Amino acid sequence: MNTQTLNLPTEQVDIALGERSYGIVIGAGVLDREASYVGLPAAACAVIVTNETVAPLYAQRLAAALTPRYPVIHTVVLPDGESYKTWESLNLIFDALLGHGCDRKTVLFALGGGVVGDMTGFAAASYMRGVPFVQVPTTLLAQVDSSVGGKTAINHPLGKNMIGAFYQPQRVICDLDTLKTLPMRELSAGLAEVIKYGPIADLAFLDWIEANIGALMAREPQALAHAVKRSCEIKALVVGQDERESGLRAILNFGHTFGHAIEAGMGYGHWLHGDAVGCGMVMAARLSQALGLVDQAFVERLTALIRQAGLPTVAPVLDVQDNVGRYLALMRIDKKSEAGEIKFVLIDGTGKAVVGGAPDDVVVAVIEASCAST
Ligand code: NAD
Ligand code: GLY
Repeated sequence: MNTQTLNLPTEQVDIALGERSYGIVIGAGVLDREASYVGLPAAACAVIVTNETVAPLYAQRLAAALTPRYPVIHTVVLPDGESYKTWESLNLIFDALLGHGCDRKTVLFALGGGVVGDMTGFAAASYMRGVPFVQVPTTLLAQVDSSVGGKTAINHPLGKNMIGAFYQPQRVICDLDTLKTLPMRELSAGLAEVIKYGPIADLAFLDWIEANIGALMAREPQALAHAVKRSCEIKALVVGQDERESGLRAILNFGHTFGHAIEAGMGYGHWLHGDAVGCGMVMAARLSQALGLVDQAFVERLTALIRQAGLPTVAPVLDVQDNVGRYLALMRIDKKSEAGEIKFVLIDGTGKAVVGGAPDDVVVAVIEASCAST
């Protein structure tokens, strides 16, 4: 693992949402820096929500940084993993908040990856009908995607992220140094969401990722810093125009229609979210090609990059009896579906994406080819 110290300037990306606007602070060591927390809502109590893996690494440091601002700091440690993104875990947060007598000014701090961030956000949205929260993402995936934009949720056995709310954080604090302790597989998972931004919004960024994939995999500080910043800029632009996904924001779901089906179909936690999105992007690109929107060269280029990022490009069989039927059934309960019609994010190879349906036989052919291909 690269243990180089990230000696980089602190940057801020702003997300413009009227009275719900906030800043995304990006830099090395920002977790410990008092300046990162200036201007956050005052309260008698702050609650750090984290998990059993991240707590021993970073919870004390966050508590130390918050001590000058909050007289009382509690920490809630959840079990680790996608399979714990459930009502039961959510209730552990509420149990702690109520047990400690936390009032409606209490500020929650989500310290961890996307699972902790999504659950803490949902807890903040609903505890006493809404308390402020701050995202302190510690995975690449959370820094480039899940901590930004206010989507919060838990999973349901029948579908991914099906129960949740749009609820924006007060701030996002991305400490690039925390990425040093991230397992390699999780780094790859985060790269899936970084790669996503290229074909849907910024071909120059796709070129840059291709040129720097080795540096990103080696956790070169400058490369990670640029990837996080550019990803946040693109996400901030999209969410700023369509906070509640009435249209444009759906492009951020490139690869996710297939990907969510893979995650739910395999059982949450078997494939990482990023693995499923990586493979899902290959499938969505193939579907775009089958619909005549993009050429084979672009699909091959994207597939090669996803493979280089250490992500799977061959889709898993979800059901040995009726694999295609299982994919279709799972995709029908995707949140983008309308009246049972499955919707996909399709790319055109010029850095633009659209949301649309596809004839069943074309989708079936893509699933069959993707599960069989090597
Ligand atoms: P995760 O939260 O499960 O974290 C991955 C693993 O890394 C966990 O084991 C975690 O404990 C560990 N970890 C976290 N930080 C670490 C660190 N610095 N060092 C060592 N280990 C660390 O997974 P994720 O990939 O961060 O997030 C995936 C989740 O995010 C999914 O549930 C997905 O649905 C959600 N998501 C939400 C949005 C959104 O807009 N809200 C967007 C994308 C993904
Ligand atoms: N990750 C998709 C979105 O935030 O809309």
